[in-house]
Amino acid sequence: MDRKLSFCIVAAALMASLQGCAPSESMPELADRVFSLAKVQYSAMAARLDAAEKPVMPVTFENGRNKDGRLNSWTSGFFPGTLWLIYQYSGDPEFESLARQQTAKLSGIVDMKTHHDIGFQVNCSFGNGYRLTGDESYRPVMEAAALKLSRRFTPSVGCIRSWDPSEKWNYPVIIDNMMNLELLLEVSRMTGDSTLARIACTHADNTLKNHFRPDGSSFHVVTYDEATGAVLSKRTHQGYSDESAWSRGQAWGLYGYTMMFRYTGNAAYLQQARKVAQFIIPMLPEDGVPEWDFNAPKPAMRDSSAGAIIASALVELSTFVSGSEAGLYRKTAEKILRTLAGPGYLAPEGENGNFLLMHGVTNLNAGSGVDIPLTYGDYYFLEALQRYVKL
Ligand code: GLY
Repeated sequence: MDRKLSFCIVAAALMASLQGCAPSESMPELADRVFSLAKVQYSAMAARLDAAEKPVMPVTFENGRNKDGRLNSWTSGFFPGTLWLIYQYSGDPEFESLARQQTAKLSGIVDMKTHHDIGFQVNCSFGNGYRLTGDESYRPVMEAAALKLSRRFTPSVGCIRSWDPSEKWNYPVIIDNMMNLELLLEVSRMTGDSTLARIACTHADNTLKNHFRPDGSSFHVVTYDEATGAVLSKRTHQGYSDESAWSRGQAWGLYGYTMMFRYTGNAAYLQQARKVAQFIIPMLPEDGVPEWDFNAPKPAMRDSSAGAIIASALVELSTFVSGSEAGLYRKTAEKILRTLAGPGYLAPEGENGNFLLMHGVTNLNAGSGVDIPLTYGDYYFLEALQRYVKL
């Protein structure tokens, strides 16, 4: 069946099913409940880290043990970021103080061995801190991090290099990298440095050209010839197969192009975000939380983190469109958020290593990080709820 027609049928069915049931808990009540739990869980997490011998950040909870990561690991900004989101929602000064403490741990990040994820790391920590407090002391780290990220851009390729060269590939660019562009655009807006914005847009333009399939799904990894910029291969790293649609990758693409439209107003980015949404929505299972890869043989493990990222992106995307399309994005986000806030995904107080969401997947191919909580799952879950209640 024509994809557009099948999208419309699924959209109509979803709207009808959502209108048929009137949940007794309103979304503001649901958000209050989740943020109350977040305060308890994340205070306990911060207290546990205080006792740690080395400066680390929480990553997950696996086999009954908390697993923390080094300060330069790609996930290190999400813990301070989550504390900032709790502060934003609650206004509780204790969380401002915790967020400041955890953000300060990343002050030396630009002098560490960094990678393309310095965008995630610094924007979630210092970026949220600057946005919420206006503390000028946060700017230098953001500016230095953006500059360092921009140095991974090669004009002949027109993209920021994701992972460093290895035997497997020389110039890989992953769809996830769209998320790091937010730091470039934010610092460009703050400082007026148009080079940073130009790099972000060139990367987004080339990703739009080379990462996507006609149906709106994306490849995970595109490898380039560094000298000529030619595309060498289109592959996967964390997905089921080269040709499949790895869910978190689709989520990063949806979020990335929605964010690009927010900063630039470029209609091509909005169009791409809508195209990705129209691929994702009919692929979601009944309860809204995606399988780890949309093409993995069923039944397949769910990835709560992909669900949270998709929900957050759809809430924002709904504000850039109108009518039934906006309604569909909002309702889909609501469905995902209600499922994630239910007993199947939301951990009981004091459990799950003090993370909120259960059932995330890091890299099923590598057999690591399967059916676990993930620091970024919690971050985007709280961001999505906060965005939703502000609609
Ligand atoms: N950027 C890494 C991941 O999504 O797993």
